[in-house]
Parts: sequence; C-alpha cells; structure tokens
Amino acid sequence: FGMFTFDPAFMTTASCESTITFIDGEKGILLYRGYPIEQLAEKSSYLEVCYLLLYGELPTREQMESFQAIVCHHTMLNEGLLRFYNGFRHDAHPMSMLVGVVGALSSYYHDSMDIKSPEHRNVSALRLIAKMPTIAANSYKHIIGQPYVYPRNDLGYVENFMNMMFSVPAEPYSFNETAVRALEILLILHADHEQNASTSTVRLAGSSQANPFSCIAGGIATLWGPAHGGANEAVIRMLYEIDKFKNVHEYIKQVKDRSIRLMGFGHRVYKNYDPRAKIIREICHKLLSELNAEHQPLFETAMELERIALEDQYFIERQLYPNVDFYSGMILRALNIPLNMFTVIFAVARTVGWVSQWLEMMNEPNVRIGRPRQLYIGATQRDYLPVEKRV
Ligand code: CMC
Repeated sequence: FGMFTFDPAFMTTASCESTITFIDGEKGILLYRGYPIEQLAEKSSYLEVCYLLLYGELPTREQMESFQAIVCHHTMLNEGLLRFYNGFRHDAHPMSMLVGVVGALSSYYHDSMDIKSPEHRNVSALRLIAKMPTIAANSYKHIIGQPYVYPRNDLGYVENFMNMMFSVPAEPYSFNETAVRALEILLILHADHEQNASTSTVRLAGSSQANPFSCIAGGIATLWGPAHGGANEAVIRMLYEIDKFKNVHEYIKQVKDRSIRLMGFGHRVYKNYDPRAKIIREICHKLLSELNAEHQPLFETAMELERIALEDQYFIERQLYPNVDFYSGMILRALNIPLNMFTVIFAVARTVGWVSQWLEMMNEPNVRIGRPRQLYIGATQRDYLPVEKRV
C-alpha cells in the first residue's frame, strides 16, 4: 500500500499518547490514572472520579470541596436554552436533543471559544460536566411534557440528576439509596475508556481547534450508535424481541447464522472479560433481588441468554462475553429509567472522559490536525463528457 498503513477500523493504530486511562484487554484490567476501576467503584464517588480524570490525582478534602462548589455553580442553563427545547418534537429521541443543545452551548459562552487559554479551557470543561445532567434531564421532561426542574445545589451530583428527572413541582422526589449508589457506580464505570469511537471523534474535532462544545456534541453523536453507547438501549429492545417469541435458543441460532448480533456482547479490546461488566453484573444481580425483580420475564430472559452464551462454542471461540452495556441496560431498566434515556446517561457519565481527553490534547505544545490518509480505489483520470454523449 505504498507509504500508508491500511488500518480502516484502527485495529493496530495508536492515535495519541495519553496518561488518563490504561486498559489491558487480555488481562481485563482498567485503570483511571493508575487506580483500578474496582477500587474506584467501591470507594469513590462520581465527582471525585471526575476530579481524578481531569487533574490526574485524587483530590484532598479542600480540593474536593472547592471542586464540588464550582461544579454546582455551573449547573443551571441559560433560560434562552430552555426555550430551545420547545423546537424539538415531543417524541424526539433525547440523544438528538443532547447533540443539539450541547452544540448550542457554544452560542452562549464566548469565553469558551478562547481555546488558547488554559483557564478558559478549564471553565469549559467544568461547564460541560456541570450542565450535562441538567441538559439530559430537561430532554426527558420535554418528552413527557412535565415542567423542567431546576438543579439543586444542596444535593449530590447523582441525587440532583435523579431529582431533575423524576421530581414534579407537586411532590418532592424520595430517593432510594440503593438506586442512587447503583447509578453512581454506573457513572464511575462509564467515565472514561481511552480512545473509543466517541473519544476519538472528540480528539479529531478538537485537533482542528474547534470549540469544546462542538467537539463534545460530535462525541455524543458517535456514542449514539448501537455498536457503541447505543448498545445499552439495544440490549433491552433485543430482550423484548426475544420475549415476544419466547425462544432464546431460536434467537441464538439466528445470531450464529450471523443474521443478527447479540447486543451487549463482545468488545474490541476486552477478549477475556470486561472488568466493568464483572462489577456491574454483581450489582445487577443484587439490585434485581433487592427490588424483587429477578422473576420479571425480561430479566429471566437476560439471565438465560447470559448462561447459554457463556457455554456456547460460537461465543467461546470468538471470545464474546457480556460487556458493560449488557448489565447497565438491565440496571437502568430495574431503576425504572425510560429506555430512550439509557444512552443519554452513558453520555452524562462519559462527558468527563471526553473533556479530560480534549484538555490533555489541548495542553500539548503543538497540536497537529488529525488527518488520516486513504487508499484510493476509484476510477483513474478520464475526460468530461457532454450530457448528449453519455450513455
Ligand atoms: N454477536 C454475535 N457475534 C459477534 C458479536 C455479537 N455481539 N460481536 C462480534 N461477533 C462476531 C463477529 O461476527 C465476528 O465473527 P466472524 O469472525 O465469524 O466473522 C467476530 O465475532 C469478531 O467480530 P468483530 O466485528 O470483528 O469485532 P469488533 O471488535 O470489530 O467489534 C463490537 C466489537 C463491540 C462492535 C462487537 O462485538 C458488537 O457489535 N457487539 C454488539 C454491540 C455492543 O454490545 N456494543 C457495546 C460495546 S461495549 C461499550 C461501548 O463501546 O459503548
């Protein structure tokens, strides 16, 4: 192939150097800034993980307090942006609103356009992390026709998000501790995953010196696809489909014929197991039993699918194991989160990963524009024909 390496799906290409996230796909290891994901899921909070990913170290108590205060300071949306929601159809997918509203932030924060200033870059990152739950919850409220709920700074990041999604002016929302912790762990597990498709999109957009809101909007658009973050929603749709026919084995047969893919299975990097799936599987089983939901048909189907696939030669040979989205879909379902909000929640969680990767790239002394080459396989040079001579 001449002077270029042909690697269309980036199977063997490293696109950057990074100090943020380490993955060993063979051994099933995932570290954020050196800390094992298992320890962070057990002991940390989502906002503390945000600090770690952004700045490289776990915060001291004082650093954490001021970080929390500054994130709270940025949670509200400009009222003009609230009116923007009215332009979306009532049955729009909330991911489409997320792409639009996050992109539109660039029309409000002119200081964030100054990407050459480290200070402004940092404020943009904080704005995105702080506003994402508000943007996400508002898209849900728009769909169901309820009034937007303003952020509350007396609540933690996760509680505030749940409150904005589920409370109504007539009645305060009462939190279930298990649900809050389950969602918090989900956010921690999804916070970053090195150079996946959406993060690579953010970096590529950022390499052109685009503003951070446009870059993250590009990341959100990429995450929406069912081969990426859209898989958690696709898993539940698949389970409904299987339930309709009441035949897991028939479904597996179709997967083996390659007419369909088992959603929530397989991973480009993890070939033994996905360490996030291991943590989340336990939480999922615990949550289902706590909520007495294990015997709901949907979850029974999921467990049967998991059991069959883990023993089946087709899946063993191809090293296909349940990934993080297989269980996160079920947890979100068990928490009564509407199906079309699943990928939105993934986007809320991943925002810190995107902005940390963008900041890391922008902090480099010379950011060169990302510009892959191609292998041209089209027509060779030929002469233009007037229309009457074309056949
Ligand atoms: N169901 C059935 N067969 C599969 C699946 C699946 N989910 N995934 C891969 N295979 C087969 C595939 O047909 C191929 O078989 P063969 O060699 O006989 O042609 C082999 O396994 C290798 O597949 P691949 O497409 O080369 O693998 P990839 O690394 O390019 O794709 C993937 C990774 C995650 C896109 C893919 O496994 C997939 O489509 N999974 C379902 C969607 C999903 O759950 N995505 C979430 C990924 S994790 C979180 C995230 O990134 O957001």
